[in-house]
Order: sequence, then C-alpha cells, then structure tokens
Amino acid sequence: MASALVAILAIFPAQASIENPSILPTPPMGFNNWARFECGLNQSLFVETADAMVSKGLLAAGYDRIHLDDCWLQHERAPNGSLQWNTTLFPNGLIWLGECFKGKGFHFGIYEDSGNATCGGYPGSRGHEELDAKTFESWGVEYLKLDGCNVYPDNEQEYQTLYSKWHQVLTSLEHPLIFSESAPAYFSATDNNTDWYEVMDWVPLYGELARHSTDIAVYGLYPASHYWQSVMVNYGFEVLLARYQQPGYYNDPDFIIPDWPWLTLDEKKSHFALWSSFSAPLIISAYIPDLSDAEVEYLTNKDIIAVDQDALAMQATLVSQDGYFDVLTKSLANGDRLLTVLNRGNYTNSTTVSIERVGLETYHTYTVKDLWTGDSNKFSGSIHITLNTHATAIYRISEVSSVIPTGMIFNTASLSCMTASDTSITFTNCTALDAQVWQVSSSGTLSPLSAPNKCLESSAHGVSLGRCNSRSASMRWVYHVTGNLINSATRLCLQERAGYLGKCGEELDNQVFGLPSGVRVVRGGKV
Ligand SMILES: *[C@@H]1O[C@H](CO)[C@@H](O)[C@H](O)[C@H]1NC(C)=O
Ligand SMILES: *[C@@H]1O[C@H](CO)[C@@H](O)[C@H](O)[C@H]1NC(C)=O
Ligand SMILES: *[C@@H]1O[C@H](CO)[C@@H](O)[C@H](O)[C@H]1NC(C)=O
Ligand SMILES: *[C@@H]1O[C@H](CO)[C@@H](O)[C@H](O)[C@H]1NC(C)=O
Ligand SMILES: *[C@@H]1O[C@H](CO)[C@@H](O)[C@H](O)[C@H]1NC(C)=O
Ligand SMILES: *[C@@H]1O[C@H](CO)[C@@H](O)[C@H](O)[C@H]1NC(C)=O
Ligand SMILES: *[C@@H]1O[C@H](CO)[C@@H](O)[C@H](O)[C@H]1NC(C)=O
Ligand SMILES: *[C@@H]1O[C@H](CO)[C@@H](O)[C@H](O)[C@H]1NC(C)=O
Repeated sequence: MASALVAILAIFPAQASIENPSILPTPPMGFNNWARFECGLNQSLFVETADAMVSKGLLAAGYDRIHLDDCWLQHERAPNGSLQWNTTLFPNGLIWLGECFKGKGFHFGIYEDSGNATCGGYPGSRGHEELDAKTFESWGVEYLKLDGCNVYPDNEQEYQTLYSKWHQVLTSLEHPLIFSESAPAYFSATDNNTDWYEVMDWVPLYGELARHSTDIAVYGLYPASHYWQSVMVNYGFEVLLARYQQPGYYNDPDFIIPDWPWLTLDEKKSHFALWSSFSAPLIISAYIPDLSDAEVEYLTNKDIIAVDQDALAMQATLVSQDGYFDVLTKSLANGDRLLTVLNRGNYTNSTTVSIERVGLETYHTYTVKDLWTGDSNKFSGSIHITLNTHATAIYRISEVSSVIPTGMIFNTASLSCMTASDTSITFTNCTALDAQVWQVSSSGTLSPLSAPNKCLESSAHGVSLGRCNSRSASMRWVYHVTGNLINSATRLCLQERAGYLGKCGEELDNQVFGLPSGVRVVRGGKV
C-alpha cells in the first residue's frame, strides 16, 4: 500500500514515532497481568508484584514498567463521561497505584480498547479518545496498550481511522504516552496476508510497538503441549515481519511466561533468548513473588538483555530452517554479530554453523561468547552446537571486520525458500541447503552460498542465475518495507509463481518476502 504510506507520511511528517525514536529508543521491559491472571487483577497483586520485582533484581535488570490489562474499569463511565476504575479491586485508586509504582522506580501503563467495548466487555474508547487520553494523563499513566475488540465495521480502514486518531491525541499531550497497538493482531492468521501487511504499514507511523498476531496462550486453560506450541506460533508470526522494525518501533510477539509449569526450563530460556534476539518487548506475565531462582537468573541475564536492548534494535532473521534447527543472526551496535540457534526437534541434536552463514568473512578468527555460560572461545571455520530438545544457544561474536547480510529469502505466505538451481531458482521447502542461504551485497545482488559467483538476474523469461556483475541493473534488487523485492532493470517484483517475476501488486502473498537482517529496507516511496 505504498501510495497510502506516502499519504500518511505527508499528513504526519514529524510526529510519527519512527521519526522520533526518542519516545522509546529500545523495546519496553516490564510486567503485565494478562496472560497469567486475565481479569483476576487487583491492587494487592500489583503492589506485591512491584515489591517482588525490586527484591528479585528484575527492576535493576531493566524491567521498569508495570501494566494493567483489561478489567480494571467499571462497567459505566462517570456522569461527566470519564472512565472510572473498579473501586473494589483498587480501593486506593489508580492515581495512588501509579504513584506507588513511581515511588519504587517503575513506569505506569494501562489498557483500553479502540472500539465500542474492551474484549472483556468494559467501556471502549471509541468516540471518547481525547477525554480518555486526558484522563490517563491526569492519572499519571505513561503507556497505553490499545486493543481492537468490538470495532465496527471491522475492516482495515476503520482500524486505521481509530488508531490514527489515538496517535494524534497521544502525541498532542504534554507528555506523549507510549502507544502499543493491537490492531494488526485482528488481521493475522487469515489465508490472505494483504490486509495484515497493510495494517503493518501504518502501525510504525502511529505508535512504538504493535501486538502483531495471536495472544500467548493464557495460563491453565489448555493441554500442556499447547504452551510450547503457542510460543512457536508467535515466533512464527514474528519472523514474517522483521522488515518493519527499527529503533522507535518494535514488533511485539507478546508476553514472556516464566513461571508456567507446562514449559521446561529449556523452553522458557528459549522463549527469552528468541525474544531478545528479536529485540522484542520483554513484558513478563507471571506471579513474580513465586519466581524461582533459576527463572530469575535467566530473566536477568545481562548479556542477553543487552542484545534485546541493543541500540540498533535489529530483529534477528533466519539464516536457515530445516524442521530441526532454526539459525538466526543479526548485527549489534558495536559491530558484534549475534548467532542464535534453536533446536525445534524432539530430541537432543547437534548441528554445525559455518562462519559464512553467520555473515562473516572466512579465514578470520573471531571471539565467540556463549551468553548462557559467559564463556568465550576462539571461532574460525565453523561452530558445532549440541542442544537439548527445544533449547536455544545464543552467542555474541566479536572482532568482526565486515558483515554481509546472509540468510533465507522466503515467501512469507507459503514459507517456502528461494532455492538456487544450476541456472535459475525454484521455491521449495526449507531444508538449510547452501542453495537456500543467500548473500545480499550492498549493491543489492543476491548470491547463493552454493554458487557465490552467481547472481540472480531478470531475464527475458523471468529470472536466471548468471555470473555476478554488480554494475548490471538486471542483477540489482531493492527490498521495500512492503516485502517486495524489486528488480532495478525491469522494476518488476520477484514472485513465487508464474515465472518468478511480475508486475508489482499491493503486498500480494505471492510477492512478499523475508530477507536477512541488515539488508537496506526502503520505506515510503512508490513500489
Ligand atoms: C488479587 O489477585 C490475586 C491474583 O488473581 C488473587 O490471588 C488474590 O486473591 C486477589 N486479592 C484480593 C484481595 O482480591
Ligand atoms: C468490581 O470488580 C468486582 C470483582 O470483579 C465485581 O464484582 C464488581 O461488580 C466490580 N464493580 C464495578 C463497579 O464494576
Ligand atoms: C469526572 O468525574 C470524576 C469523578 O466522578 C472526576 O474524578 C473527574 O475529575 C471528572 N472529570 C472532569 C474532566 O471533570
Ligand atoms: C459503536 O459506537 C458508535 C459510536 O460510539 C455507535 O455509533 C455505534 O452504533 C456502536 N456500534 C455498535 C455495534 O454497538
Ligand atoms: C488478497 O487480498 C487482496 C486485497 O484484498 C487482493 O487484492 C488479492 O487478490 C487477494 N489475494 C488472493 C490470492 O486472493
Ligand atoms: C515433535 O513432536 C510433535 C508432537 O509430539 C510433532 O508435532 C512434531 O512434528 C515433532 N517434531 C519433529 C521435528 O519431529
Ligand atoms: C538432527 O537434525 C538433523 C537435521 O539438522 C536431522 O536430519 C536429524 O534427523 C536430527 N536427529 C534427530 C535425532 O532428531
Ligand atoms: C514440503 O513440506 C510439506 C509439509 O511438511 C510436505 O507435505 C511436502 O511433501 C514437502 N514437499 C517436498 C517437495 O518435499
């Protein structure tokens, strides 16, 4: 929806959050009651939580936000139209509670809904945006999670109208609230991603983070095996969206759930390491006073939090996937390189990752730090990794001289991988072959590790692989935030079917691709 993007940028040039990353320079960290307690919230839970976050070292580690989710409200607005808190649940009131948080060193966040009612059936904000924003400001609220239940009509245009209104209202306050947008979640998981991506196009212009897809499964409602699946489902949505993230705007795959008995410690640590590799929000939903030492220990791992809070806020992307191992990388602000490897398989297993797959020059020795153990080693050639089922290794590689964005180029609807053949490409299941790992040069050429001297080019009958020549426009490709990969000679878009090259459409499933992090992303402008 490039034309709409241009129009939006023209209306709100300087207020857009990605234009002002200082509103939230790194992803938020903190607590929210929802996934653990749903509507079972009250004053004593929040006060206990705040105290435990201090005593367990979570505040000191950076978890400095406390957020109330749905069901804090009364069913009726006050006679003057203001929202009111439930005085049984919050006997001292939310102004008192916010001051209590601030006194202990936390920021105060709240929940509302953009539609006629919240998901829990309490008054929504539609038609009351200015009043509600002023009310929140007067209560000392600094962060708003705005849900999208009960929006009528429930189409993309209506959501954009409501969320852009909130953007204007929140940014015109004396102290603009951080704005977490749930709108995209209402368009995910359909059999046509176009509307979802059109919503994703505007959320970075209006707010600082977006709940892009399904909720993490709430505590206790599902069979045990559902919980790890839920983590993997949200992980699976997140990897489709890396191109949208940049400092000031974060994709939000939902809460960290550290005290859930249906996850193993390895699974909980994976959840945390993967979210940190994404520079995703780290909002814990748990009963904090009862967190075990082992849970607190991984949640406060300084080296991994530093990856999450890295100033580049880059979202790690897939180097490869074979059904057993997911390998991800990204760059960090000081030039270091991150390597994250998840064992998705059901057994302990081993894999080897070569230096070139990490995007680094071969014939060079690096220092690699295991961020779980803190141990550093020398690294050249390749790294061999053994992992328990559902465990994740996370390494920080330093002494890096140069990086070439390297990894999968995959269709975000079919999840199939662009695979080099002798003279051209196909799209097939991802199996981590060298023919599926692509290097993207700074001039925009695409070469598979299986044939590093060959580049993808447009040709009379679609695309082919030819001897690389970065001066040839037919071999240069531009990656747009819409997910389109546009050939510089023909201005046509890469596509999965029908000759692999076609007229660019508006975020059509056939034409939207995930590329390695570090590839330049063109924002705004015409596709
Ligand atoms: C507050 O909420 C917690 C969590 O739902 C619950 O265990 C506790 O009993 C509640 N306390 C009061 C006073 O309602
Ligand atoms: C406050 O919450 C309690 C417990 O959920 C509920 O019984 C009561 O009706 C609520 N009060 C108001 C005024 O909404
Ligand atoms: C509306 O009424 C509530 C209490 O009923 C009060 O706390 C609030 O300050 C009033 N709002 C305005 C804008 O006067
Ligand atoms: C939603 O709220 C709007 C304005 O507040 C109102 O006009 C509309 O009838 C409501 N829709 C439904 C389905 O309740
Ligand atoms: C998906 O939706 C878009 C926008 O409504 C439409 O243009 C496109 O044709 C749809 N794609 C498929 C495969 O149905
Ligand atoms: C692991 O087991 C689950 C269910 O028990 C199954 O759905 C999944 O395909 C298995 N994974 C692999 C990689 O074999
Ligand atoms: C280990 O992973 C490889 C793929 O990386 C797979 O071929 C093999 O079957 C896996 N072994 C076990 C025991 O699952
Ligand atoms: C690709 O994977 C799907 C689902 O795992 C499977 O049904 C299909 O046979 C695979 N296709 C090929 C060509 O291996």
